[in-house]
Amino acid sequence: MRNRIEWRDARVAEIRPLAEDVRYLSFDVDGPIPRFEPGSHSNFRVEIDGEAAIRTYTVLPAPEGQIAVGVKLHPQSRGGSRFMWSLEAGQRLRLTVPENRFELNWRAGHYLLLAGGIGITPIYGMAQALVARGASVRLVYAARSRQIMAFADELAALLGDRLSLRDNAQGEHIDLVGEFAALPVEAECYLCGPIGLLEAAKAAWAEAGRPASRLRYEVFGDSGLYPEKTFTVEVLNRDIAVAVRPDQTLLEALLGAGVEMIYDCQRGECGLCAVRVVDRSAAIDHRDVFLSREEKDENTRMCACVSRLAEGRAVIDTGYRGRATRQDGSFPLV
Ligand code: FES
Repeated sequence: MRNRIEWRDARVAEIRPLAEDVRYLSFDVDGPIPRFEPGSHSNFRVEIDGEAAIRTYTVLPAPEGQIAVGVKLHPQSRGGSRFMWSLEAGQRLRLTVPENRFELNWRAGHYLLLAGGIGITPIYGMAQALVARGASVRLVYAARSRQIMAFADELAALLGDRLSLRDNAQGEHIDLVGEFAALPVEAECYLCGPIGLLEAAKAAWAEAGRPASRLRYEVFGDSGLYPEKTFTVEVLNRDIAVAVRPDQTLLEALLGAGVEMIYDCQRGECGLCAVRVVDRSAAIDHRDVFLSREEKDENTRMCACVSRLAEGRAVIDTGYRGRATRQDGSFPLV
C-alpha cells in the first residue's frame, strides 16, 4: 500500500462515453507511474465555483504512462463530477499517483465481486486481474438500468456465465442471501456500491455466519439515503451557526467558517472528523464506513467529511474525539 501522496502534472489524453452519464477519461502523466493494483485511486485537483478542491476517483486499467478513470455525472453533486465532465482533450491538471486502500487479497479460493452502479470501477479491474490469474470468480453487477452499466459488454466477454447483471428497472436486484449461501467456506467478497447496498450486505454476511474480515468493501462518499439539502449546524459553546449547502460537506462548511477540525481521509473511513451530535431536528444520513451499525443507530456521532443531516438543524460538539485512527494507523492525540 502506498501512503505517500505524490502529485503530478497530467494532460487529458482521451474522453469517451462508457454508459449513460458515465465518461471515460484518461490522462498522460508526467514522469513514470509506479505499477498499481486494481482498487487503487487517485486524487484530482478540481475547481468548483472558482475554488480549488480535491476529488478522489478509482483508477481503471490503463496503458503504461496513463491514469484513467470512469466518472459518473452527478447533477446534484458537490461539483467534482461536473468539473471532470467539463475537461477537454489536451487540458492540463494535477493528480496523484495511485494508492490503494481497497486491496485484493490473493489468498481466497473463490471470489464474489459485487458492484452497484458506478461502484463497478474498482470491481472491473479486480475481475480482469482475477481472470488473468485463473482465479475462481463470480461478479454480480446491479444498477438502476442497463443503460447506465459501464463495462457490461466487456465483462460479459470476460466472464461469460460467471457474470450476472441485475437491472433494477426490470425488477432485478442482488439476492445477497442466496449469493452468500452459495459461497464455499474459503470465499471472499469484494463490494463497491452505495451505502445502502453495503449495509444490507454486511447484515446478510453476518447472518450467514461468515467472518467479517472476508467481506471487503468501498462505498462512494456521496451515496446517502437522503438527497442533499441545505442544513444548519450550531457549534456547541461557540457562537457559530453554519449553513451547509447541498454542494458542500459539513467538514468543508465548518472549515470555511473557521472551525478547527481534525481530519484525514475525507472518505468516511478513518473517523478523525467525527463530531458529537448533541441535538437535531432531522435524521442523520450516515455515509461513512467508520461507525458501526449500532453506533449509527445511536445517532450521537457523525463523520463530518461525508455524513449529513437530511435537512433542518443540529447542535454539534466539534471538540469531541472518540476512537479514531489515522490512515497510517496512529491515534490522534486530542
Ligand atoms: S476524515 Fe476520515 S472519516 Fe472523515
